Amino acid sequence: MTVRHLRTDRWWLPPAATAAGLLAFIVYATWRAFAGSHYYSEPYISPFYSPCLASSCPAMPGGARWPIFGSWWPLSPAVIILIVPLGFRMTCYYYRKAYYRAFWSSPPACAVAEPHATYSGETRFPLILQNVHRYFLYLSTIVAVILTWDLVLAFRDKHGSWGHAGLGTLVLLVNAGLLWTYTLSCHSCRHIVGGRLRHFSKHPVRYKLWGWIGVLNNRHMLLAWTSLFMVGFADFYIYLVSSGAFADPRFF
Ligand code: FES
Repeated sequence: MTVRHLRTDRWWLPPAATAAGLLAFIVYATWRAFAGSHYYSEPYISPFYSPCLASSCPAMPGGARWPIFGSWWPLSPAVIILIVPLGFRMTCYYYRKAYYRAFWSSPPACAVAEPHATYSGETRFPLILQNVHRYFLYLSTIVAVILTWDLVLAFRDKHGSWGHAGLGTLVLLVNAGLLWTYTLSCHSCRHIVGGRLRHFSKHPVRYKLWGWIGVLNNRHMLLAWTSLFMVGFADFYIYLVSSGAFADPRFF
């Protein structure tokens, strides 16, 4: 009898856990993205909805509200902007490995043969489109800047007075921090900063930055999961506050 692999450990556990985690996030994000409500509670805006690009977005003093999509846009404003983080994560080198294993068994795990008869890698359509990852990195960096501005605005109270903070401010702070570290730990980012150089000695600043990004890059998987969880949690927190289910505790 031929065996497909010789592994005796529970090799199926990581891909199964990955599939469960990604499916849970997809279900939650789909619900919230299409809900189109309870995403803003002065001074907080959900990261799923920022920048807010539809004319249906509420007035947000100082916030990133650019109603480029007029009343003809039939869906929730989140559907417009979520294309950027979705594209960024879908084409991320780590997530690619994770969902190829979890959903396509390609391959299911190290040293476990995949069930497909042929393998073309990412050399053909549609998977060759994964090469656009670098461009999603550029767009995601712009979104990260906007979410950082949202964090700055969260240091106001309901009346627009500065120098205040609540639990929501802390939630947005952690979210922005994880989003930045995940973005900077990107393999494409590392290549942009330190790649294509013949001599590091002639580019000391880039070499230094490359070293720092390398430290983050070593933790890319961890940052991918923690930032994914945190962006969902930040949205859920603002949903609770906006819907009146939870009163945001104020620290000062
Ligand atoms: Fe994961 Fe770029 S490789 S975000």
